[in-house]
Amino acid sequence: MTQYQPSSQARRFSVLKFGSSVLRNADDYARVAHEIYRHTRTGEKVVAVVSALDGETDALFAMGDQVGQGSSDRVLARLVRCGELKSAALMGLALERSGVPVAVLDPHEMDLVASGDPLDANLSGLNREKVLARFDQADVIVAPGFFGEDENGPITLGRGGTDLTAVMFAHWLGADRARLIKDVDGVYSDDPAKNPDAHRFDALDYEAARKVSHGLVQDKAISRAKALDVVVEVASLGKAYATRIAAQVEKPAAARVERPLRVAVLGHGAVGAGLCQHLLAHPNRFQLSPILVRNPAKHSPDADPRLHFTQDPAEALRDDTDIVVEALGGTGFARSLSQSALRDGRHLVTANKAVIALDLALLSGLARENGLDLRYSAAVGGGTPILEHLDELAPKNDVLAVEGVMNGTCNFILDALDRGELFADAVAEAQRLGFAEADPSTDLDGDDAADKLAIICHHAFGIMPDVRDISRESLSDLSPERIAAAREAGLVFKQVGRCVADNTGGVDARVELRALPQSHPFAALRNEANGFLIHRPQGLTYIKGKGAGRWPTAEAMFADLMDVQRRHARSASPGKTTTTRQKTASQDHRMPRESAL
Ligand code: NDP
Ligand code: HSE
Repeated sequence: MTQYQPSSQARRFSVLKFGSSVLRNADDYARVAHEIYRHTRTGEKVVAVVSALDGETDALFAMGDQVGQGSSDRVLARLVRCGELKSAALMGLALERSGVPVAVLDPHEMDLVASGDPLDANLSGLNREKVLARFDQADVIVAPGFFGEDENGPITLGRGGTDLTAVMFAHWLGADRARLIKDVDGVYSDDPAKNPDAHRFDALDYEAARKVSHGLVQDKAISRAKALDVVVEVASLGKAYATRIAAQVEKPAAARVERPLRVAVLGHGAVGAGLCQHLLAHPNRFQLSPILVRNPAKHSPDADPRLHFTQDPAEALRDDTDIVVEALGGTGFARSLSQSALRDGRHLVTANKAVIALDLALLSGLARENGLDLRYSAAVGGGTPILEHLDELAPKNDVLAVEGVMNGTCNFILDALDRGELFADAVAEAQRLGFAEADPSTDLDGDDAADKLAIICHHAFGIMPDVRDISRESLSDLSPERIAAAREAGLVFKQVGRCVADNTGGVDARVELRALPQSHPFAALRNEANGFLIHRPQGLTYIKGKGAGRWPTAEAMFADLMDVQRRHARSASPGKTTTTRQKTASQDHRMPRESAL
């Protein structure tokens, strides 16, 4: 094949640090994963530096003192860094669940060098090339903060040392800033929990930050940031704004008032149920109405007691609904509810590619006329942000063709067949795991991939083909003999959608079954994975991720919801009089870009 260029060669880096104040228990790793995904889906590569879970470092110090009674700082350092090691692994697991390609690296795997006092050291070096190489396969590298290695083993960076780790990574990787995520939304003139008159700053210089932050940011980290000219941001989870610490003039922030948005979720199946868990975990941002299902009795006994179910659309779609989330599937009821949501002045977030492939022009028009958001990131790629990548490249005329494995169920089944498993068993397992459509022939016959390919054409070339014009091959046409013969020849079958703009202003789009060599990047896609090759004048860009299933899909939908929530919070700030339904920039045929900030 033509030269293969990993997507990481066009790198924008973000260094995000998550402190113990946002890692209070195991549930918080999912919240932090949302924040990281928000950055990766805009094409950024992320170094996520994590602290230990809240209280863990203190407990380790206490245990070390009890056992060692002050015998050795060096061995104590070896003990207390374990909180960060555990936290990094938990972070990796949460990201894997969401389908984000991730590598968890310990300091010795990056040659992260520290020197000085074993309990109050400084960081002095990183093998940048080793780190960058890992970004060829991963979108996120999770690094434990708080410690590095000297010639005798691990040593720690003092209280708040994870801030220092983040500052140094930003410096070494040339990131535009280190964003420190805390449980407050910036640096205040005083502790806002104790002093209601405390005011937040939008901007501070390094010395002012040191004075007013009262240890919110580690002193050593501020000093190193100042010396190395690293911009530091202090922010909280999910916020679009931060306090920016740099060589600059101090700037107080305007007050902000935010109210939770009311969300109507339609459907509580593989996707809807995951999304509802995320909504419940963010009560300050979202209020959940009764969820529309066909059969409430089926759901209530096992569900979280905070969830309520209804089969009455009027009860689900209350008058005060801000956002409708469509996770029903199909092109009947779901299609009409999507249109009426926008006609009634509600933002629409949907995973339904069949509806989007049919009605994107209509729905975009309704959203534009009513000043509403229409979001459908999960409709293509599951958690793999292919549409966001295309939105970035297409305006620069940077897309020649796109090809992709874009149906997770077919990939799962072909993978199983390649291992010699039975077709019927593989289909049943894909259904059990929540990958398949309600009618799995939609997956097998290439209809689902054709819907997705039509949407891709739209984002890549601004042309929306009629899905009926997209030719497709069915998995049912693939005999075990053909699969076996391909395996003998060292080839592997994949269902591939491909589209290329022709020179008459049209687009050639088709869904094919292709026997690919093992060297092809699609050949390495396992189970429900999706992968996309974007052909550009400069070469090929490849992105991959989990293309189906509850958590990757819910991650993409939740990111859409958070984009809507942030846009609403901005337009609802004091001094602006717009309401949820009269606001925000107009929509074009692409999804509006949300800077991860
Ligand atoms: P499921 O079949 O698992 O769930 C559908 C849900 O919608 C069920 O709760 C069902 O209720 C409810 N529902 C369906 N029709 C009606 C109706 N007429 N009235 C009331 N409730 C109804 O589907 P998924 O969660 O897998 O998929 C949902 C959407 O997300 C689809 O558009 C799909 O293409 C898309 N999607 C799915 C992905 C996946 O991996 N599964 C990935 C990306 C997108 P009840 O439970 O009572 O039957
Ligand atoms: N059925 C779809 C698939 C769900 O398997 O890819 C994700 O869009």
